[in-house]
Amino acid sequence: MKIIKAADLSVNFCGIDMPNPFMLSSAPPTGTGNMILQAFEAGWGGAVTKTIGLDKDLASNVTPRLASLSFPGRTDEPKKLYGLENIELITDRPLASWLKEIEEIKAKFADRLLVASIMAGGNDREGWQDLVRRCQDAGADMLELNFSCPHGMPEKGMGAAIGQSPEITGQVTAWVTEVSSIPVMAKMTPNITDIREPARAALEAGAVAISAINTVASIMGVDLNTLNPVPDVNGKSTHGGYSGPAIKPIALKAVSTIASDLKCPISGIGGIETWSDAAEFILLGSTNVQICTAVMFHGFRIIEELEDGLRGFMEDHQFEKIDDFIGVSLSKLADHNALVREPRMVSSIDKDTCVKCDLCVVSCRDAGYQALKPGEDRIPVVDKDLCTGCSLCVQVCPVWDCMKLVAA
Ligand SMILES: Cc1cc2nc3c(=O)[nH]c(=O)nc-3n(C[C@H](O)[C@H](O)[C@H](O)COP(=O)(O)O)c2cc1C
Repeated sequence: MKIIKAADLSVNFCGIDMPNPFMLSSAPPTGTGNMILQAFEAGWGGAVTKTIGLDKDLASNVTPRLASLSFPGRTDEPKKLYGLENIELITDRPLASWLKEIEEIKAKFADRLLVASIMAGGNDREGWQDLVRRCQDAGADMLELNFSCPHGMPEKGMGAAIGQSPEITGQVTAWVTEVSSIPVMAKMTPNITDIREPARAALEAGAVAISAINTVASIMGVDLNTLNPVPDVNGKSTHGGYSGPAIKPIALKAVSTIASDLKCPISGIGGIETWSDAAEFILLGSTNVQICTAVMFHGFRIIEELEDGLRGFMEDHQFEKIDDFIGVSLSKLADHNALVREPRMVSSIDKDTCVKCDLCVVSCRDAGYQALKPGEDRIPVVDKDLCTGCSLCVQVCPVWDCMKLVAA
C-alpha cells in the first residue's frame, strides 16, 4: 500500500489557489466585511459576499424572514434542524461600503478566495457592467452572478427570473464577461426542469465556472392557530428558499448532472454540514464547496472539524490532494437500465441489536411484500421467497446496521 504524507487540502479554483476547499456561500454569514474577516481568521478557504446590488436596488427586508423544519417536532427532545426557509433579499448595505470592505479583506487575506456576488435586473446592462467594474477594481478575485434567488427578486426581473431563462442567462453573462477581467461564475437555481440549460448558456457566454445550488422554492407550513402561512409577516407570508440538510440530495443531483455533461469547474452548494457531505460533493464533481445554513446554526468554528475530517477521509483513501478525487464517483452513476438485476438481495436482521419495535414488520406488511413476520421474542423473521430486497425495512429500522440486505 502506498504510504502518503498528510493530505493537502489546498485546491486551485479557476486559476486561484485556496488553502482548503471550504467557502462561505453568499448569505448572512458573509453579510459584512467584518464577518468575512472573522471567518478567514477562523480558517475558511474562501467566501462569497452576500449578494451586492446597485444602491437603486437596495433591499428592504421584512421580519421575521426565516422558518425551519426540525425533528422531532415539538417534544421535549432537543430539536435538530433539517431545513431552513428564508425570505431574505440581497444586501441592504450600500455598494460603497462593500467596495471598501472587499479592499480591506484582500489586503489582510491575499491567500483566500474572495468572490463578489452581484445582481442587477435582467434588462440592466449598464447596472451589471457597473457592478462588475467596481467589484473587480476593489480587488475581488472572482464574480458570482446571482441568477438564482427564488423569492422577492424574481418579481423585479432579477435572481431566478434570469436563471430560469437560458436566453436571459446567456445575455446577462455576455454583458458581464464583456467587461470583466476576473473569472466569472454563474450561480444556478434548482427551480428549473433542466439545470444544464442555463448553466450551458452561461458557460457559452464566457462564465468559467458554475455554482449550484441556490435555495429550493418552498413554503414551510401554516400555523394551525392563526391559519397564517409561516414566516408570518404581520398576517401574510410568501414563498421562500429552502436550505440546509434537507436539500443536499437535490444539490448532489444538480452538481453531478452539470459535472457529467458540462465538465466545468463547479462550486458545490446545498445542505453541506459536515466533512462527509463535502467529500460527497467533491466525489460528484465539485472542486470546492460553499456552506451557509450549517454556519448559521453552528458558527464559523465548524471549519476545524471540516478540515480535520476531510483530511482524515483523504488519508484513509490515499488521496494526496483534492484534485485526486474530484468527480471520482461520477463514473459510478449510470442510466437506470444499466443497473444490474442480479444478485438478488434479501433482508437480514441482527438479532442482538433488534429492539423489537415491529416497525419493519408493519411497513413490510402495509407497504412492502409481506416478507417479515414477528418471530419468537418478536424478533422479525424474513421469508426469503417473498422478500424482493426493496430495503424499506433498512430505511425504517431505528437502529443503525440492525437491518441489512445480503445476497439471497
Ligand atoms: C437567509 C439566507 C440568505 C441568503 N442570501 C443569499 C444571497 O444574498 N445570495 C445568494 O446567492 N444566495 C443566498 N442564499 C443562498 C445560500 O447562499 C445557499 O445557496 C443556500 O442556502 C444553500 O446552501 P446551504 O444549504 O448550505 O444553506 C441565502 C440563504 C439563506 C438561508
